[in-house]
Amino acid sequence: MAETGAPENGPQHVAIIMDGNGRWAQNRGRPRLFGHQAGASRVREIVAACPDLGIRYLTIFAFSTENWKRTQAEVTGLMTLFRRYITKEAQALLKQGVRVRFIGDRDRLEPKLVDLMNELEELTAGNDLVHMTVAINYGGRDEVARATKRMAHEVAAGRINPDDVDAETLARFLDTCVLPDPDLVIRTSGEARISNFLLWQSAYAEYEFTPILWPDFTRDHFAEIVARYANRERRYGGVKV
Ligand code: FPP
Repeated sequence: MAETGAPENGPQHVAIIMDGNGRWAQNRGRPRLFGHQAGASRVREIVAACPDLGIRYLTIFAFSTENWKRTQAEVTGLMTLFRRYITKEAQALLKQGVRVRFIGDRDRLEPKLVDLMNELEELTAGNDLVHMTVAINYGGRDEVARATKRMAHEVAAGRINPDDVDAETLARFLDTCVLPDPDLVIRTSGEARISNFLLWQSAYAEYEFTPILWPDFTRDHFAEIVARYANRERRYGGVKV
């Protein structure tokens, strides 16, 4: 098992696709929501591990723009879980020095949840130890489309010259505009795909796919992956100098 503690050259920003809750529950003959509840406990553990591991930014994929296709019962259960998580964890996150942000399209979310999300963002706005971003109703393509629309309005209003538009211009309109790009993207549960998560931002990220189901993913697993990242050589399209 990897030692805990921050490795040298560790990732500053880790993004996680928390997959496998449903299978974890199914393996135990329990409903899928039982798996999501167990998954929420892991979120708590993984956030708490970040300061020791030297991780300043953590972004987690909680609900995608495609997850609405699940049964009504599962969608409602997940939304209830998000509300409960925010209500229950707000004070602990504040005390732990965690600044919470949400990304994704809030328009389709129930107003009660959006209010709680806004309140948690405001409550923790003064924190700076760990920046946790939770993606809810988030899809990478949707984010780029929404950003492009906002930018197009600025162009139409004459505030941006179309000839000046480059990648940096568009990035300013993304939900993640205040965050650095992720250095490391982890997906649990053995699936090796990106599922529309941080498409733009992950252009040069390192990827780790682990077979462990999210509700079984412990702080030690996390520390091991983070330590392995430190040995990777990142070239960003260049060559080793
Ligand atoms: C993917 O597993 C997981 C989700 C779609 C939900 C992620 C949500 C949580 C971990 C709950 C808590 C989150 C917060 C922020 C409180 P899956 O259901 O697709 O699993 P499967 O592939 O085994 O079916």
